[in-house]
Amino acid sequence: MNQILKFDTADAPNCADDKIEERIAALLREMTLPEKIGQMRQVDATGEAISPDLADAIRTGRIGSVINQASPEIVNELQRIAVEETRLGVPLLIARDVIHGFKTIMPIPLGQAATWNPDLVRDGARVAAREAASCGVNWTFAPMIDISRDPRWGRIAESLGEDPYLTCTLGVAMTEGFQGDDLAEYASIGACAKHFAGYGASESGRDYSTTNIPENELRNIYLPPFKAVIEAGALSIMSSFSDIDGVPASANSFLFRDVLRGEWRFDGIAVSDWNSIAQLSVHGITANDRESAEQAITAGIDMEMAGDAYQNHIADLIENGDVNIDEIDRMVANVLRTKFRLGLFDDAYADPAAFPRFGDSEAMTVAKEMALQSVVLLRNEERTLPLNPEALTSVAVIGPMADAPYEQIGTWVFDGDETLSVTPLQAIRDAAGDDFDVRYAPAMESTRSKSVDQFGAAFEAASDADVAIVFLGEESILSGEAHSRADIDLPGNQAQLVKALKRAGKPVVAVVLAGRPLTLGDLLDDVDALLFAWHPGTMGGPAISDLLFGRACPSGKLPVTFPKMVGQIPIYYNRKNSGRPPSPNEIVHIDDIPVGARQTSLGMTAFHLDAGYEPLFPFGFGLSYTDFHYADLQLSAAALRTGETLRVEATIANNGDRAGVEVAQLYIRDLVGSVTRPVRELKKFARVSLQPGEETKVTFDLTTDDLAFWRRSGAYGSEPGDFHLWVGGSSEGGLMASFTLVD
Ligand code: NOJ
Repeated sequence: MNQILKFDTADAPNCADDKIEERIAALLREMTLPEKIGQMRQVDATGEAISPDLADAIRTGRIGSVINQASPEIVNELQRIAVEETRLGVPLLIARDVIHGFKTIMPIPLGQAATWNPDLVRDGARVAAREAASCGVNWTFAPMIDISRDPRWGRIAESLGEDPYLTCTLGVAMTEGFQGDDLAEYASIGACAKHFAGYGASESGRDYSTTNIPENELRNIYLPPFKAVIEAGALSIMSSFSDIDGVPASANSFLFRDVLRGEWRFDGIAVSDWNSIAQLSVHGITANDRESAEQAITAGIDMEMAGDAYQNHIADLIENGDVNIDEIDRMVANVLRTKFRLGLFDDAYADPAAFPRFGDSEAMTVAKEMALQSVVLLRNEERTLPLNPEALTSVAVIGPMADAPYEQIGTWVFDGDETLSVTPLQAIRDAAGDDFDVRYAPAMESTRSKSVDQFGAAFEAASDADVAIVFLGEESILSGEAHSRADIDLPGNQAQLVKALKRAGKPVVAVVLAGRPLTLGDLLDDVDALLFAWHPGTMGGPAISDLLFGRACPSGKLPVTFPKMVGQIPIYYNRKNSGRPPSPNEIVHIDDIPVGARQTSLGMTAFHLDAGYEPLFPFGFGLSYTDFHYADLQLSAAALRTGETLRVEATIANNGDRAGVEVAQLYIRDLVGSVTRPVRELKKFARVSLQPGEETKVTFDLTTDDLAFWRRSGAYGSEPGDFHLWVGGSSEGGLMASFTLVD
């Protein structure tokens, strides 16, 4: 018997709209049990026509939502059946994974996170919503806000990186972009916070694997983005495929009942992931679909995605007293409330004529700006970049990612139109015009190719040119759901290609297009400059070309730590100090241990003998073509009391000769806590635009709420004591100051 029915959605503060609640109550009075169960069911509607079975199921009120249909004609017919031919005329939720664009593709979310620009992320989601809505989609399964500390995990591409604060900020922006100012407005679509919770901690980065996250870590690191996005009004939330503390998310009452409904008062839809309710028995916590349905209902999953457990078993569960009909009513109310909020009862239809052209100039402008701001400059020896077009006679464009329209748009692009893609090769040819030659040599058939047959032609192209620009990385298929890798080096013979090109004696500029951080190894030593462009989307080519030739200046900063080698994973900036923290002069390298050494003391701190403890590149890192200088860090007080605000100011000067944008970052460390605290935590950031020679003051207001965390007592709040604070351009270094929080 269901024991955990503590929360009544009628208590939720969000239920302000009495009219909606009255209409929900009226519908529930009219609905038969099969119609209620229908509202809790989402079915796969892939295909070029509506099957008679699907039409009949909608007509008889046995379906509340469909997934994977984005043809406006088909969607409109599905809605017509639901609205005109069913007894109660309840419209359908039309769900689609619109993750980083619909037809016009923005950079992958991890790339979007590298912009550190919430306004742009909001604009990107707005473009996606507008295009998707014109095809009848009214519900997307984004933002994905799983904290991701493991680059082996293919889904890191879809995440906003490793940091809770950056993920909160950008997850909220993306939600606002999808949902717009007015949910009922035509081009607004419902957002879905996913995957609740802890999916990013899948063991060894293998998708769907188990997760082990202590509650304190769960609350301090993994849950804050979900709370933030729910508070920003996200209409729905999706359960994770993984299990956490022994309970798969789709049956996890702690997550869905206690935290989501009880603590956060969420009154939208909790949807399962794809068939994840039936998979509860595969996890081994239920013996059959009936038990799975019971456990998912007990946990509070309102809608089953692509599975039949609810359809087949809810009636029987009610009849036998295992599930209470009041609970089913509350779950159906969550579904109906969402449909009312989206205005579907007033207008459920797509109007393709409203937005006739995909990839219009607004969409392409946002896509280009986002790609431009997402690229991170990781190396620039002797100021190789930007290239001066006036001084060039010819450039060699080399590599498997130089002219690959589909491979540059990345994972999760069901509707993405690769014919809209402008590749780097095309854009460089456009930039060159008649001014310099462009010699193209793909060198490899794909990023995974092991053949060296075309290396000779690439070498010749490089030898004949002033500079070799080599486009490397991972094809789209190598990241995303279930596309995890154990080895995150550049695949295939790409590293060897670069070594071959280096022998041509010309400057080598590498541009890496990939869905995750890669262990770049000695690629860094083999190239003069390196731009990391993620999968940059439709307008990746023009954005990269602008950066290469100095029409724009890189401003991207890493939203995730880059390891030197896989064995360092998980490696992230906001780690705990441990009782034996490493320091540079204490570490010992494996090659420096004398042969036959017997002594046990090799530093005795937390490092690897073969990798030290530092990453290849830290979170927040990214170079520019100009030089930013931080000075004069000032705090408004040396001490503050709970409820007060600390004003933090620093001067940033552009000491170079180009205009540029710097992402100024503020980190804190709470020196003594009731639980161990991270060595650094990002608390604020700001994008600062400066002309050459210009300086400005950047100001951050830090409140005592910003210092709060889940404490050993289980309470949430800040604790008095000493703090360190840094302001700088990365999670390492920066100007430092101290302050005290007093009782
Ligand atoms: C499975 C994925 O985990 C989820 O993120 C996605 O939204 C659904 N499938 C629907 O495609």
